[in-house]
Amino acid sequence: MGIAGTAPRPRGPAAPLDVGSIRKDFPILSMRVGGKPLVYLDNAATGQRPSVVIEAVRRSMAEQNANVHRGVHYLSEQATLAFDAVREQARAFLNAPATHEVLFVRGTTEGINLVAQSYGRSTLKPGDEILLTTMEHHSNIVPWQIVAGQTGAVVRAIPINDAGEVDLDAYRTLLSARTKIVGVVHISNALGTINPVAEMTRLAHEVGAVVVVDGAQAVPHTAVDVQALGCDFYASSGHKMFGPTGVGLLWGRTELLEAMPPWQGGGDMIHTVSFAGTTFAPLPAKFEAGTPAIAEVIGLGAAIRYLQGIGFDAIGAWERELLTRATQLVQAVPGIRLVGTAREKAGVLSFTLEGIHPHDLGTILDAEGVAIRAGHHCAQPVMQRFGVHATARASFAFYNTFDDIDALVRGLHRAREVFA
Ligand SMILES: Cc1ncc(COP(=O)(O)O)c(C=O)c1O
Repeated sequence: MGIAGTAPRPRGPAAPLDVGSIRKDFPILSMRVGGKPLVYLDNAATGQRPSVVIEAVRRSMAEQNANVHRGVHYLSEQATLAFDAVREQARAFLNAPATHEVLFVRGTTEGINLVAQSYGRSTLKPGDEILLTTMEHHSNIVPWQIVAGQTGAVVRAIPINDAGEVDLDAYRTLLSARTKIVGVVHISNALGTINPVAEMTRLAHEVGAVVVVDGAQAVPHTAVDVQALGCDFYASSGHKMFGPTGVGLLWGRTELLEAMPPWQGGGDMIHTVSFAGTTFAPLPAKFEAGTPAIAEVIGLGAAIRYLQGIGFDAIGAWERELLTRATQLVQAVPGIRLVGTAREKAGVLSFTLEGIHPHDLGTILDAEGVAIRAGHHCAQPVMQRFGVHATARASFAFYNTFDDIDALVRGLHRAREVFA
């Protein structure tokens, strides 16, 4: 069995989750914070790692450490085999048509910057338009603003309604022959909205635009099928899907990737180099200059295998139950305003509590052992849209329980007492 080859637990894809036993896979979930059991509800920021991921990284470093794609010695061959195997795993995970279309990047942020600086910079002309939904994370806004500044293209925002859903009529109106790129977050980290990516892609393609999807919050919670979505690029982060930090996936269509110039130069991405000029390696190496995050990629492979072992049917069903219960209980707390009430929603609950700043709320909850996020969630245009500076955000993963939600709600009542 390969380095990341810990066998998945034998659960049927649609079997109900045994959350009690799943929690034992995550060492950190049994820790205590300030004498209280940890209640981890900050999964949109980063997921926790199961033991199989930790072990895969440890074994990679302890038993198989060598550089990849370079050495002829035993260790290098072993490391290369384990590293390369993850690319095919990731292809299957995203249902991408070809393995060479999957690029290892640092994360969603780097994936989108790669598309902006390579595809965007080489194709955009003055007056071209880049349409982005108002609910994008900064990592799907700022790279486009930078490339717009470099090329003379213009960034335009697609409005969202009061529930936090894309205004599809406004989107249709904004689309035109000038639209060259559409950027859309698959699942919003600030609102939980699940966007109609396939429909938005179909409309974008009618005007000849290319669609870049930010999948950071989707890959941990739902089966992603890039062919069914029909999009052109799909970016995600390993750490949000219970893998290591410092690694992520960028999928892109072969014909686009082949036509795009490299965005970083260095080792491993070349065919030949001389001072007269350089020829580049074929995909995927053309976009992977330098030594990659080897142990992290191998850890990501273990995370993918772990998620597939549980199955997204079961994950989705349980997370919907968590969201339904949390929504009912949290909105019953006097003074709560939910921010993000889309009909299609994932396990993210953003809210404000009257008279209490979200940061104070976060601090009080922390004293109860409950970890949530407070702030603008790197989505300031969302905050502006809803007229708030910040929200408190509880975000769920399949290892969360109803007890976790009860602890959150107790903490909200406690905060009200403190600020009464
Ligand atoms: C929707 C979304 N996009 C992009 C990112 C950026 O991910 P990373 O920091 O892993 O590159 C995040 C992280 O919070 C996110 O939630």
